[in-house]
Amino acid sequence: MKKDFLSITDLSKEQILEVLNVAANEKRGATSEILRGKQIALYFEKPSLRTKASFEVGIHELGGNFSYFSTVDVGKLGERESIDDFAKVLSGYFDLVVARVFEHENLEKFAEVSEIPVINALSDREHPCQILADLLTIRDKLGRVNNFKLVYLGDGNNVALSLALAAEILGFEFVLAGPKKYQLEYPQIKQTENLDEALAETDVIYTDTWNSMGEPKKSDETILTPFQLNAEVLKKAKPSAIVLHCLPAHRGKEITDEVLDGPQSVVFAQAANRLPVQKALLAKIFAQTF
Ligand code: CP
Ligand code: NVA
Repeated sequence: MKKDFLSITDLSKEQILEVLNVAANEKRGATSEILRGKQIALYFEKPSLRTKASFEVGIHELGGNFSYFSTVDVGKLGERESIDDFAKVLSGYFDLVVARVFEHENLEKFAEVSEIPVINALSDREHPCQILADLLTIRDKLGRVNNFKLVYLGDGNNVALSLALAAEILGFEFVLAGPKKYQLEYPQIKQTENLDEALAETDVIYTDTWNSMGEPKKSDETILTPFQLNAEVLKKAKPSAIVLHCLPAHRGKEITDEVLDGPQSVVFAQAANRLPVQKALLAKIFAQTF
């Protein structure tokens, strides 16, 4: 059994839909003890509230055990010992590794050597677990995960890329609206500096921090200010549009209190959805039904 989940593209459309269905059942209380006797390593190079908590609670609810390692315990990948040695050693004790890392390339190297499945709990390139929870939230609110328009405002980061890739897999429209300098380096992704054009007929508006963990702080972040998600910007989308943010939010920067706490915001339902989705992902991997 070895099914890595490093990128949202590691799952097909059918597999994503299966995860969402299992997660929806989890929410209805249909849980299993599929992780009984299983040992999961959580290795985090960066801080985390939602990802750490939802994996820990999820593993516990599925009957498994976990050990958490921060860089204080074991160092950053490749620093205290080689990535290969680290991966081989963990493979001797554990059944699966959940890893949050600075460099996605290191995660790929780790996964290549690891004899056990590896889940990306966020890297500088992608945040695929987050996107599964986002999709569950969208399906809860819109009733579907295709044929809708999602506009991502601001910095073209890891979350934005995973969303854009999910759009290709599932068949929804993704547009990134942000300054050219901070757009994604993927020519096939629809990106613009024109807010009005981007937001017309939008069903879902998403934003995230202007400074992701581990990247140098932007000295020119004011060029992102026009893309702040505030009440005026929100009016440009459909009146029924929902607001998503992966959190943590930087209130008054990429999003205002008024919008984050307003009636169109579903951010806390989105955060809560991390739990059933992590459980569904683990259950599918351990049931070997991917
Ligand atoms: N959204 C998210 O991944 O939050 P944490 O960084 O707190 O895990
Ligand atoms: N883009 C953010 C997401 C945090 C969950 C970061 O990488 O810091």
